[in-house]
Amino acid sequence: MTSVTVPLLDVNAQNHPLRVELEQAFARVLTTGRFIFGDEMEALERECAEMIGVKHALAVSSGTDALILALMALNVLPGDEVLCPSFTFFATAGAIHRLGAVPVFCDVKNDDFGICLKSAAAKITSKTRCIIPVHLFGQCVDMHSVTHFARENNLTVLEDCAQAIGSAYCGKQAGTIGHIGAFSFFPSKNLGGFGDGGMVTTNDDELAERMVRLRNHGMHPRYYHSEVGGNFRLDALQCALLRVKVPKYKNYLRHRRQNAAFYHQQLSEKLGFILPKEMPRSLHTWNQFTIRIENGARDHFKKHLADRGIGAEIYYPVPLHQQECFRNLPKHCLSECSTSESLSREVISIPIYPELSQDQKNFVVSAIQEYTIPQ
Ligand SMILES: Cc1ncc(COP(=O)(O)O)c(C=O)c1O
Repeated sequence: MTSVTVPLLDVNAQNHPLRVELEQAFARVLTTGRFIFGDEMEALERECAEMIGVKHALAVSSGTDALILALMALNVLPGDEVLCPSFTFFATAGAIHRLGAVPVFCDVKNDDFGICLKSAAAKITSKTRCIIPVHLFGQCVDMHSVTHFARENNLTVLEDCAQAIGSAYCGKQAGTIGHIGAFSFFPSKNLGGFGDGGMVTTNDDELAERMVRLRNHGMHPRYYHSEVGGNFRLDALQCALLRVKVPKYKNYLRHRRQNAAFYHQQLSEKLGFILPKEMPRSLHTWNQFTIRIENGARDHFKKHLADRGIGAEIYYPVPLHQQECFRNLPKHCLSECSTSESLSREVISIPIYPELSQDQKNFVVSAIQEYTIPQ
């Protein structure tokens, strides 16, 4: 087989074929001169709410701001404790910390990489207010157990859906099960925008109303502020561009799922490689296809792929309870996250984006097949 390069992600492969539609979207906004709020934002919100199956979807400036806005709307205050997984992207915990609240890092489960409720239960205190399950890599957390746990302990539930637009548990999509869902349109996400962007979702009218206000400096009516919010708005231009992709999302997802099925079919027998699973009763959207490699060979394997022109990345090399910026948190926030630590040593994500050609997938598979873990 001739050699082909395979980047971890190729945004141009998705975006360039949309050039005409994107230019039309840009022209629409330019013609109206409406750059903040307006029809494009409202239409994106309507279309996303319909796609996700939720009453309210509000466009915001990023996935990080979606988390901050949601925590503000859920009344998470300075000193409050929020349970979150240690094995996730930094923003999950950064958002908590930014509000003066305390991220309490819980371990994750071996199978779906979701928050471990046993670990969470051991870390509850009288200050715990909220839990953030993260649907990591596109695998939906077991939300029955999370909502049950939250009810028992009187906690609000904020779903971090940044990597999981369209993912589902028991037929319900991520971002429709907890009190609020926080999404990201960062270019590497499954619905990737053209810069930063995000969204919050909720079925609760009061929370939606509060988030509308907080997204725009807590202002209502104009120039009257009953509470302090921020500027968490998403530009009309970004909304218009994203709208081009919304109707295509199902097709992108179908290709991601086909790619994952191909890897499973070709690699399930590979010794020393643990493939990610789609958990029962859930729909995985494969934002990442994250393999675990035993025997400390992960970095050696990454070099093997790089030598062949195949992109791969370590999401995430340092679990959050071991990040320097959190070193002074109370002890229970940082204790016993051993699965997170093993995952950080073992995981590697390989190309899974929808536009991968069959040649590229074959090339990835053969590079993996010819690799032997050093003993
Ligand atoms: C799990 C998770 N949460 C939050 C975020 C933050 O999203 P953004 O980069 O849009 O701020 C990301 C994405 O980077 C993420 O992967």
